[in-house]
This record gives sequence, C-alpha cells and structure tokens, in this order.
Amino acid sequence: MFKSIRTKLTATYIIIIVAVMVLTSFLLLNILKQYYFDYQYTDMTRSATLISSFVAPKLIDKPDAADISKVAFDFARQINARVIVTDHKQRVVGDSQRVEGLVGTTLDRKEIEAALAQKQKWTVQYSEISDNWVLQVAVPVLNEDKVVGVVFLASSLSYIHGVQHDIRNYLIIATVLSIIIAGLLGRFLARRMTDPLQALTAAAEKMARGDFSQQVTVSTRDEIGRLTVQFNEMAQQLQQSTKQLKEFVANASHEMRSPLTSLNILVKSLRDYPLDKEEQQEFLADIDEELERLIRLVEDLLDLTRLDSVASDDTMALLDIVPAVRGTLEMLRKRAEEKELIFSYTLPERTTPILVVLHQIKQIVFNLVDNAFKYTPAGGQVKVTLSEETDCLKLCVIDTGVGIPADQREKVFERFYRVDKARSREQGGTGLGLSIVREIVKRHGGKVWVEEGEQGRGSVFIVTLPLPEIN
Ligand SMILES: Nc1ncnc2c1ncn2[C@@H]1O[C@H](COP(=O)(O)OP(=O)(O)OP(=O)(O)O)[C@@H](O)[C@H]1O
Ligand SMILES: [Mg+2]
Repeated sequence: MFKSIRTKLTATYIIIIVAVMVLTSFLLLNILKQYYFDYQYTDMTRSATLISSFVAPKLIDKPDAADISKVAFDFARQINARVIVTDHKQRVVGDSQRVEGLVGTTLDRKEIEAALAQKQKWTVQYSEISDNWVLQVAVPVLNEDKVVGVVFLASSLSYIHGVQHDIRNYLIIATVLSIIIAGLLGRFLARRMTDPLQALTAAAEKMARGDFSQQVTVSTRDEIGRLTVQFNEMAQQLQQSTKQLKEFVANASHEMRSPLTSLNILVKSLRDYPLDKEEQQEFLADIDEELERLIRLVEDLLDLTRLDSVASDDTMALLDIVPAVRGTLEMLRKRAEEKELIFSYTLPERTTPILVVLHQIKQIVFNLVDNAFKYTPAGGQVKVTLSEETDCLKLCVIDTGVGIPADQREKVFERFYRVDKARSREQGGTGLGLSIVREIVKRHGGKVWVEEGEQGRGSVFIVTLPLPEIN
C-alpha cells in the first residue's frame, strides 16, 4: 500500500495534520473550559456572597421562608442560577424555585458542609432533571463572625457545553478541509518530486538493457535536478565509451585479420604444394614476419588495456630518467645504421628526479624514435634532445622524414590512426604506438604534441613531463 513515495508523502502530511488538529482541539477545548469555569466560579461566589449579606439579617431568630425565597428568586432571575438558602443546620429556608422547591427539607451536600465549616468547595454535577451539567457553589452566611446559614448556587453549564460543541464541530470541519487540502497538496508536491524520479528510473531501466542514448529532461534545480544532470552526463560517457570500445574491438579484429589471412595462405601453400627447399625457407620467413606482427599487435593491445585500467600495477618512483633514456637510444642506434640514418642525441648529465614508471618512459622514447626511423627515408636525420625547463622535462624527437599534414597532427594520437595506411602497414605498423605514448604521458601528468619539422621538413614530437612541486 505504501510502496510509492507519493502515497508515503501524502499519508505523512495527513497524519501530521490530524495529529496537530487533534492536539490543538484538545488543548483549546480544555483551556476554554477551564477559563469559563474559573470565570463562572468567581462570578457565582461573588453573587453568593452578595446574597448572603442580604439574607444574613433574615436568618437571625426565626427565618421567614417566603421572604427569603423571594430574595432568592429575585437574585436567581438576575444571575440565571438557582439560589437556595439554608440555616446552620442545613435546613432549606429559601429557594428560588418556588414551585416544587426544597423549602423545609434538609439539604445534605458537601458544598454546604464545607461552607458551614467556612471552607469553600465547588462541584460539577450532572442534573438529570435539566439534562445538563451544573456548577454548584456554597458560601457561608455570617452574622458577627458566626455562621448562621449557607447560600447555595447552582448554575447550568449548558452555555459552555454549547460553545464547546460548536468549536468541536468547527474543528472537525477544519480538520476534514485540511486533510483534503493536504491530500491534494501532497499529491501535487509528491508528483513534482516523483515524476523526474520515474523518468530517471525508466531511463535507467532502458540503459540496463543496453540503450545508452538516454537523456532525461532536467525540470528542477534541487537535488533531483542535480542527480538528473549527473545521470545524463553518465549516460553520455557510457555511450561514448561503448562506441569507443566497439570501434576498438572492430579495429583490433580488422588488424588481426590480414596477418591471419596471410598465415592461413602460407601454411596451406606449404602443406599442399611441392616446394623446393629455398621456396620453403622463403615461406617460413614470411610466416615468421606475420607472426611477429601479430605478437607486436597483441602486445600493444595488452599495453593499452593495462593503461586503460584505473588501478595499474605499476608503481611510480622518483627517478632521474637520463640513464633509461640513454639506454633506449643506444639500443636503437644499430637500427639507425641499418636504415642509413644520421642519428644523434643530446642529453644532460642528469636531471631532477621525477615521479615515473621507468619502463613506460622507455616505451615513450622507443615508440617516438621508432616512428622517426620508420617515416624518414635513408639519408635523413633523426635527433633526440632532453632538457630541463623551469617546471618540466622536455623531450624532443626531431626527424627530416615525410612529415605529418597539419590537419592530422591531432589524429595521429588516436588508436589505429595512420596517415598513410598502406605505407605504415608496409612498415609493420598498427597505429597504436602514439596512442600508447599519449596514455603514458597523460598518466604522468604531462603533454605530448607534434609540430612541423625544422625548415618545414619532417616532424618534431615533443613530450613534457612535470617536475615535482617544491613545497
Ligand atoms: N615521425 C613521424 N613522421 C611522419 N609520420 C608519423 C611519424 N610518427 C607517426 N606518424 C604517423 O602517425 C601514424 C600513427 O603512428 P603510430 O606510432 O601510432 O602508429 P604506427 O607507427 O603506424 O604503428 P605502431 O607504432 O603501432 O607500430 C603513423 O601511421 C604515421 O602515419
Ligand atoms: Mg609507431
């Protein structure tokens, strides 16, 4: 029954209203009753005292019932109460109710006894005759400090009961109206709150089924509005990541297909055709090359996956990177000679240690210099410099090769992107080298970009790695 927020909110509003109204009614009615009682009691006591001073001389010697009853009757009419006068033995000697009055009887009442003892007492009693509640007060009649009788007043409480009854009715009407208003208002407010939540739930359900194109309209600026904004952002990011992932898988499969197809043909040829020893060797060399390519591709993919995962196993250390850079460059020197390139580098003796994963720094150098070798024809130059700037270390890989058109200088860092696909593949490239560089540099808080080479020839790849902040 209370499964939806709307019902819960509305029910809560109604419960609060009812509780407040019941409590208010209870307090209000009681205060009113108390106030009226106090007022009535004081008024009746004052009247009784006045009557007692009137009847006091009439109670000495033998009281005249008719005379006293007349006085009682006159007062009773004015104060709208029944007035009874007794002597000190509680015998009624005057009653405002002349017909069927109590004159002559003994009135054995607690209030009268108390008055005779010069104490005050009041009672509220239900009178079946008048079908009403009555307030009763008695005061002593004194003659020279001696109690000679008692004036007893009884006044109906029908007025206050009537008022109470009316107020109770008004309060009931007010409560019912408040409940209706609270119900409507509760539904309205709850709707304002739950409508966006329902929209979010529906969108989340669709996303759970794989449809990430969800965007929920932001209708408020409160917490739910902020949640909706975050949700939309999350949906967008998910959509983008899924698209990237799909593209990545498609590209990776595509890249694997060509070496695998070549391998398939080569192996089948080896098996099905009679080949002489030399031809067999050639085929095996081709198989070897294709396998190498596949292994490199898988290694690159693994590198990227590892760099993508948030928690990498690689721990950073504060190190001077010069020896590692020099080692990598020395390792590549032989390749430069094979390709007949003029290869040189300028490194400082040492640099300020920075926070790095060392093998990743080697990979940056390797990938950039490898590219420079690949895309620079024989006779060209490749130069590497490392320098310490005010707030970073700057690595430049300069070549005099084919260069990169200005409109593609951003794109070369994307996964699988190659300027000249055929040429790159011929060189054994898969288009992942620079994206790995970019990921590593990003992880180290640095920047990487490419500029046009010196005198408009070739390219210059620049990497900056921030120096640790001195506190
Ligand atoms: N020094 C360079 N000179 C000219 N073009 C370059 C240079 N470096 C990279 N490129 C271009 O950028 C593309 C992407 O480079 P990247 O290193 O990512 O891939 P790749 O070298 O083709 O393959 P991989 O590095 O994965 O073996 C290359 O295909 C090439 O077209
Ligand atoms: Mg490369």
